[in-house]
Amino acid sequence: MGMKNIAVRVLLSISLVIQCIIAQALATPKYYDFVLKESNFTRLCNTKSMLTVNGSFPGPTIYVNAGDTIYVNVHNQGNYGFTIHWHGVMQPRNPWSDGPEYITQCPINPGTNFTYQVEFTTEEGTLWWHAHSDWTRSSIHGAIVIKPAPGKTYPFPEPDGEEVIVFSSWYNKDVNSMVDYILKTGTDKSLISNAYTINGQPGDFKDCSKESTIRMNFEYGKTYLLRLVNAVMNRDLFFMIAGHNQTVVGWDAGYVKPVTTDYIFISTGQTLDILVTANRKPGEYYMIATPYYDAVGTDFDNSTASAIFQYTGNYTQKAPYFPVFVPDYADMASARAFVERLRSLASEEHPIEVPMEVDTRMFITVSANLNPCPNDSCAGPDGYRVLASLNNISFVNPAIDILEAYYRNISGIYKTDFPDIPPVFFNFTADDLTTSNYTYTEQATKVKVLNYNESVEIIFQGTNVIYGGEDHPMHLHGFKFYLIGSGVGIYKNDTSTSSYNLFDPPRANTIVVPKNGWATVRFRADNPGVWLMHCHFERHFSWGMDTVFIVKNGDTAETSVMGPPANMPPCKYTPLLHHVFNSTEDELDNI
Ligand code: C2O
Ligand code: CU
Repeated sequence: MGMKNIAVRVLLSISLVIQCIIAQALATPKYYDFVLKESNFTRLCNTKSMLTVNGSFPGPTIYVNAGDTIYVNVHNQGNYGFTIHWHGVMQPRNPWSDGPEYITQCPINPGTNFTYQVEFTTEEGTLWWHAHSDWTRSSIHGAIVIKPAPGKTYPFPEPDGEEVIVFSSWYNKDVNSMVDYILKTGTDKSLISNAYTINGQPGDFKDCSKESTIRMNFEYGKTYLLRLVNAVMNRDLFFMIAGHNQTVVGWDAGYVKPVTTDYIFISTGQTLDILVTANRKPGEYYMIATPYYDAVGTDFDNSTASAIFQYTGNYTQKAPYFPVFVPDYADMASARAFVERLRSLASEEHPIEVPMEVDTRMFITVSANLNPCPNDSCAGPDGYRVLASLNNISFVNPAIDILEAYYRNISGIYKTDFPDIPPVFFNFTADDLTTSNYTYTEQATKVKVLNYNESVEIIFQGTNVIYGGEDHPMHLHGFKFYLIGSGVGIYKNDTSTSSYNLFDPPRANTIVVPKNGWATVRFRADNPGVWLMHCHFERHFSWGMDTVFIVKNGDTAETSVMGPPANMPPCKYTPLLHHVFNSTEDELDNI
C-alpha cells in the first residue's frame, strides 16, 4: 500500500471518529428529575394542598427535538402511588415506559422512584405528560415541546417567538378523596371544577384572581407560535383571542394544512399549534377559554378562563378587548366545523400512510350505563351504580398490570375476547334507552389482540343510553390514528363510508366522537406492546370507558417488544382507588 493511500485512510478514519463524537454529542440523552410532593396552592381565595411536579402548577415544560430520547426520574414524595404517562409519545416497542397504571405498570409507591425512557420519533409539535392514576392528573401535568430535528425546519415560516398555553381544571376540594367517594358509592354526581385555568391562573373573571392573571407580551408586527394543551379533566374547550385570527398549523404533534379561524375547539387530551400575528392596534386583548358541553343537564363548570395578550410599548387603552365571537357552550356546529377543517399536510416532507385495506374492522359502541347494586345500595339513579363501557364491556383494572401478565405469561389476569362488535345492535341514538336490557354492562378485563403490522379500522358509535349522549374524546396510547370520517346519528355502511377522506385525513392521538354520532379511525398496528384506549373525560374513564390492545411481536427482534427495565415498580402496594367496585351498604354508611 502506498504512503498516499495510508494517509487517505488515516484521514478518513480520523474524520469518522470525529463524526462519531459529533453524533454522540447530538444524541446525548437528557435527564430530568420530577419530584412529586404535596404543597399549598391558593386560587379563588381558597388554599389547599396538592401533589405537583417540582412544586409548579402546571408542571415544568419539557423541550426536546424530534428524534431525542430522554430519561425522567420520577421521585414519589407524596403519600399515595401514581404513574406518569407521556401523552401522544408513541414509545416504539417500549410500553414499559408508557405509564397507565394497571395497564403497563403498577404505581410508583411513596418513597420510591422510577425512571421513564421517553423516545421521540416522528412526533413534532406539542404534546404533554400527565399522571395516569385515578384523578391525580388534575394537578400533575405539563407540556412537551418538540422542535424539528437539528437541521430541519417547520413547514411554515419560523415564528418570531412562542408561548405554551396549558388549560387545566382547578378544584377547591381535594380531588382524590372526592373521586374515591364517587367511585365507592356509584353516584352519577360529578366532580365539578371551580375554575378553568390558563397556565395555572383563572384570570380576570374569577374571584380573587385578577392580580395573578397571566399576561403574555407580543411585539407589533411579529408572528408567534402558541402551543395549546387541553389538560382539563372533563371538558372540551373553545379558545378565542380578541381581535386576532388564529392559524392552526399542528394537531397532536403532527402538522396540518394551515386553517385560519376566529375560534379554536380543543378536546381534553388534545394539543394544537397555532400561529398568531400581532397586527392590531397595540393594546391589551383577552385570550379566553370557555367550556364546550353537549350533554343533558346543566351541572357543569360554565366559567371562563382568561389571560391577556398585551402588546409591548405604550398605549392608553383602559381595559382589554373581549372577543366578539364566543361560541355558546352547546354549540356543536362550531365544534364540528372546526374539526372538519383539519387536514394532514400529506406532502413529500411530511407524508402520510393511511391504510387503504383493512385487516381488522371493529365497530365499538361508546356508552354510559347503569348496573344494579345489592338492595339498591348505590348512590346513582334508583340506587344503581353509574358505569361506562366500550362494546358494553366496562373495563375493570386488574390487580397486576396487563403488560406484566402478558410478558410473563401470567394467566387469569385478563381475557382476550374484547368483541369486535357490540353484543346487540339497537337504535343507539334513540331516547328512552333506560330499561335494563340497554343500561346493563358487563364489568370485565377484556383486551383485543392484534397481529403485528395489521391494519385496523375502528368505527366508534356514541349511544344515548340513559340519555347519556355526549361527545367522547377517544385517546389511543402507542399510536396515532387517522380520522377518516365522522358524523352525527348512526353510522351507515354505505353512506357514511362514502364520506371518508383517505387522501389527507388528519392524524391525532385523541379524536372526538360527536354526541350521538360516529367517528372512524384507521391505524397500522406496527408498535408491539400493550396499549390503552380510553375516553379522555376522566369520569368516563373511571367508570370503565376503556379497553386495551395487545399488539403481538413481529418475526424479528426489531419488531418485538423490549424487555422491562430492571426497576419496574412492584405490584404490591394497595392503591387508594381502583376500578373494582364492590361497595356494600356498610361501606356507604362509613363515608
Ligand atoms: Cu392523556 Cu391515557 O391519557
Ligand atoms: Cu366519554
